[in-house]
Amino acid sequence: MKNVVLMGFMGAGKTTVGKMLAGAEHYQFIDTDEQIEKEQNRKISDIFDQDGEEAFRQMETDYLRKLEAEQRPFVLSIGGGMPVREENRELLRKLGIVVYLEASKETIIQRVSGDVNRPLLQGGSLEEKVTALMNAREAVYLETAHAVLNTDGDTAETVIKKIKDLL
Ligand code: S3P
Repeated sequence: MKNVVLMGFMGAGKTTVGKMLAGAEHYQFIDTDEQIEKEQNRKISDIFDQDGEEAFRQMETDYLRKLEAEQRPFVLSIGGGMPVREENRELLRKLGIVVYLEASKETIIQRVSGDVNRPLLQGGSLEEKVTALMNAREAVYLETAHAVLNTDGDTAETVIKKIKDLL
């Protein structure tokens, strides 16, 4: 199996599915949010509060560049905003097979409601925020993906099976 990059909106299941897939394939599991939090020794919400979104986006790009040197195979789960930068889109496609885990707005809202750790979804109407961001991102996800999987109603096991069938 080649490296797998799991891409999708917040709450699409990238981390859950990624961990399980990596475990099953004896690949290392890497989550960009987790790595950035470790490097920075602070939460993403604090990075956004203290340094702003643009600084976080630069950290994401810097981290992807580091990953180019990674020798051991991996399943990578990326933050939902990662593909918004063009240079990231190119880097992601070089790193592995980019799988877009697509989920409906209803599924996403259900999964992220009550979450206080995603700065872009705090305050105001969750539905409006999710709708605006999803609309803005759909095209970049489609442009970046090598493959698109709809995951509505699927268990993590089913999604993993679908990914394996692609590879
Ligand atoms: C973001 C998604 C988050 C995290 C940050 C910004 C985004 O990751 O990187 O809160 O812009 O969509 P998840 O997609 O893992 O929630």
